[in-house]
Amino acid sequence: MRIRDSVALVTGASSGIGWASAVRLAGAGARVLVHGRDEGRLAALADLVDGVPLTGELADPGQVDRLAAAALGAAGRVDIVVHNAGAGWAGPFDRMPEADIGRLVAVNLAAPIGLTRALLPGMRARGEGHLMFVTSIAGRVGVAGEAVYAATKAGLDAFAESLRLELRGSGVGVGALAPGVVQTRFFERRGQPYGRDHPRPIPADRVAAALVRAVAEGRDDGYVPGWLRLPVAVRGVAPGLYRRLAGRFGGS
Ligand SMILES: NC(=O)c1ccc[n+]([C@@H]2O[C@H](COP(=O)([O-])OP(=O)(O)OC[C@H]3O[C@@H](n4cnc5c(N)ncnc54)[C@H](OP(=O)(O)O)[C@@H]3O)[C@@H](O)[C@H]2O)c1
Repeated sequence: MRIRDSVALVTGASSGIGWASAVRLAGAGARVLVHGRDEGRLAALADLVDGVPLTGELADPGQVDRLAAAALGAAGRVDIVVHNAGAGWAGPFDRMPEADIGRLVAVNLAAPIGLTRALLPGMRARGEGHLMFVTSIAGRVGVAGEAVYAATKAGLDAFAESLRLELRGSGVGVGALAPGVVQTRFFERRGQPYGRDHPRPIPADRVAAALVRAVAEGRDDGYVPGWLRLPVAVRGVAPGLYRRLAGRFGGS
């Protein structure tokens, strides 16, 4: 997908991976529409990238539709959507409050589906566009203590894969990028800091660089860091072995 002169909407751009991705997309020549809830941070980013700030609570389906309308209203079209906004929750599943279950499913899974529903018709009509989904290694292997988070990300992966098949030949590309552990506010916000020595958290900008490269090259699927495809492959061919190893080394 050609990034120069495209219009790119980045959800969850007020922080972390989304912020870094918006900066890189703008650097590559896109006009960026930056979404988030934190108006102060969003205004600062919009200044930095000469972009348009768009606020919206993605746990609310009405606001998802309003975000799509605001994006189209601001730029007339959206060529690239980076579905990045997301939230975690860590702890034993049976202690997870119902409201947090609903919030994670709404923000991590239902919102990207709703936003795609609203913005895909324009891309199809133009015969061009790109949908990029920020998933997670958690959704590809499962993680103890993050059952609902992992389920939403696995759902997002399945949505992306299915859409990719459906949109073949339409000119609309679909990418999914699964990061591992990234240095952002994600962990403090999920209510449990990242507490392991390995793997070491990587900078958000490394994910953003991989993401923008994947959009530009129309890559279907990827991991950052790339070695994460190994545990996924082990789980695929030897699930029993994988579970034994995850029991010893896994967890969040
Ligand atoms: N950090 C990691 O290790 C890691 C690993 C794998 C995948 N990921 C995924 O990467 C994506 C970005 O996360 P990050 O690490 O950059 O975390 P982050 O720094 O906490 O950023 C999350 C972004 O999502 C937005 N957001 C969260 N809840 C929202 C809601 N209810 N409505 C609207 N926007 C909401 C936040 O907006 P406000 O700040 O304005 O509220 C923020 O811009 C997420 O999908 C996450 O699951 C992260």
